[in-house]
Amino acid sequence: MNDTFLKACRGEKTEYTPVWIMRQAGRYLPQYLEVRGRGKGTFLDLCKDPARCTEVTLQPVDFFNMDAAILFSDILIPMEPMGMNLEFHEGRGPVFTDPIRSRKDVEALVIPDPEATMPFVMETIKLLRAELKVPLIGFSGAPFTLATYLIEGGSSKVFLETKKMMFQAPELYHNLLQKITDCTSLYLQAQAKAGAQTLQIFDSWAGILAPVDYARFALPYVQSIINDLRKVTDVPIIYFANNGSTLIEHTMTAGADVLGLDWRINIKKAIARVGDHVVQGNLDPIALFLPEEDLKQRIKQLLEDAREAKGHIFNLGHGVVPQTPPDQVRITVDAVHEFSARA
Ligand code: CP3
Repeated sequence: MNDTFLKACRGEKTEYTPVWIMRQAGRYLPQYLEVRGRGKGTFLDLCKDPARCTEVTLQPVDFFNMDAAILFSDILIPMEPMGMNLEFHEGRGPVFTDPIRSRKDVEALVIPDPEATMPFVMETIKLLRAELKVPLIGFSGAPFTLATYLIEGGSSKVFLETKKMMFQAPELYHNLLQKITDCTSLYLQAQAKAGAQTLQIFDSWAGILAPVDYARFALPYVQSIINDLRKVTDVPIIYFANNGSTLIEHTMTAGADVLGLDWRINIKKAIARVGDHVVQGNLDPIALFLPEEDLKQRIKQLLEDAREAKGHIFNLGHGVVPQTPPDQVRITVDAVHEFSARA
């Protein structure tokens, strides 16, 4: 197996900088769209079909020579067995038809047994491990990010209902977050047990919080999950707090091995602040629309800027967007491999 990615996660010396791309399996690939359309099911049907999940996970790894695979699923999948009704609407994204607003709503949520309620995830992990020659990343959402979807009923701009619950009903908010935390903790442990070799926690909305609120209403739940994981597994843990450059002093204390960085911070400046952490990131996803030579120059500079890191995993600063030409992804991966090769 090519374990360059795992070595980098652990801060060990590698022959080159490993690279994978957030949302590397997805709509920018015509081959993904073909598999998703097959059988005319929905996105959720695809997430529950291990054979097709395996196929779309492998696509970018095989096409572009990625150094890691990420399980094909979605951060919202465990919210269904918790008792939420989830739908994905074309153009609008995820929708929870009955958002969480009251004590009764929180009390009705259950903490599911991941193996019993999401066997398709564990099955996909096992199928992938039998096929893959690079490490497999499992993942979850961070409790705060998951809570925003449950409370708002979908994506949001100002997160009014979420912040109102924090500020006006902190006990209710805490009870909700505790349930999501317990669910997520068991879910990630089950993924590691099934064969996931790294776990990434996506905190996509962390950056909408003031640092003081992040420290109180988001970070403790991530710390708790990572603490639990450390008792049962030694797989590396990546924590990605999107838009989190103003939160580094806090995210450093989450307990992760690797900190994911979005593109809004210069990686060199971030590295000076992250202490004993490996970093992952942080090319602007839209930089993939640069002309080839400019894109390569950006990548070269980024690798240079990351030289002093304890370890660096090359990635975008957030997910690749659906309009991205696949050839630009190929150019990116090849450039990382070429420019980072150590004599
Ligand atoms: O290669 C991969 O990373 C694929 C696996 C993956 C998906 N979602 C598949 C997906 C992963 C790791 C995710 C994580 C995810 N899901 C996050 C965290 C990462 C981030 O982008 O911040 C979040 C916030 C979600 C919730 C979600 N799922 C949204 C907001 C949407 C709609 C918006 C969008 O980008 O389409 C989804 C749908 C989704 N998840 C798709 C895919 C491939 C598109 C569904 C389709 O095929 O139409």
